[in-house]
Amino acid sequence: MSARFPAARPRRLRARPALRRLVAETRVRPADLILPMFVKEGVDAPVPVESMPGVVQHTRDSLRKAAHEAVAAGVGGLMVFGVPEVKDERGSAADDPAGIVQQTLRDLSADLGDDIVIMADLCLDEYTSHGHCGLLTPAGQVDNDATLERYGAIAVAQAAAGAHVVAPSGMMDGQVAAIRAALDTAGYTDIPILAYAAKYASAFYGPFRDAAECAPQFGDRSSYQQDPANAVEALREVELDLAEGADMIMIKPGLAYLDVVAKVAETVRVPVSAYQVSGEYAMVEAAAANQWLDRERVILETLTAYQRAGASQILTYWATEAARLLR
Ligand code: PBG
Repeated sequence: MSARFPAARPRRLRARPALRRLVAETRVRPADLILPMFVKEGVDAPVPVESMPGVVQHTRDSLRKAAHEAVAAGVGGLMVFGVPEVKDERGSAADDPAGIVQQTLRDLSADLGDDIVIMADLCLDEYTSHGHCGLLTPAGQVDNDATLERYGAIAVAQAAAGAHVVAPSGMMDGQVAAIRAALDTAGYTDIPILAYAAKYASAFYGPFRDAAECAPQFGDRSSYQQDPANAVEALREVELDLAEGADMIMIKPGLAYLDVVAKVAETVRVPVSAYQVSGEYAMVEAAAANQWLDRERVILETLTAYQRAGASQILTYWATEAARLLR
């Protein structure tokens, strides 16, 4: 054999744009993207989130407008987070039919009910005075089983207000089963559950806690969210959530956990989504503001990486912009 020519030339298929397009293995579609949105009670103008340039806490009206823009861009889903005016120990605003999230869900389902999937984050941390994702015992521990009843009530309130999908993010044991039972009993047998199955105790949530005003007032979330060191545990969490009736599952955060996304996507037979969280957004925006990164290329590259790893749907604060870029 002569060594004059390489036996194989992978570069042949990279030689021209049309060829590269033809052989691309991964192609993110606008419909794969889910836009997380914050709605704040009691403000008459959107409030910018300082640590997330370009993201705001919406008013009801500005959220409606942004939701229409997302639909026009072809975005597949919206995930609504509420920031209530009044918080208390048990997060009463979370399942109040007159609460800000329920009002917003009614707005969205009236405006856009057939055009996009309307999802509600289901948790207590934005609604509790202490900022934890569940009810507390007198000793200040998060009380798993007492919290489940609250989650069931929130799920029913969200479904009644028009949510198409509820997405529990609190990492309580048994939460999917409790929510399924509550929904079914109330007649919402057709509302799917998107379970934040593997949710890590991550420093990448920092900016979100400004946006949702939900930083824990004491301690942290390590007794309910997962240790970043563990991947096998994520498979167990996913297995449990599916056994309890989850219809779709989510891994969160995404970028630093794409190995977990890949492992989970190989094992399950339901749609796997991943959440490009606030800290991932903030890192790229900060670097791009300094002209240290090509912002649009990085956005598209990260979304492609999520799908290459196995995520079918991606929650991203760039959803509307990315959908336009992908068109
Ligand atoms: C909890 C919740 C959090 C995020 C989504 N749902 C914060 C937390 O667990 O502290 C983080 C999302 C992000 O960082 O973009 N309801």
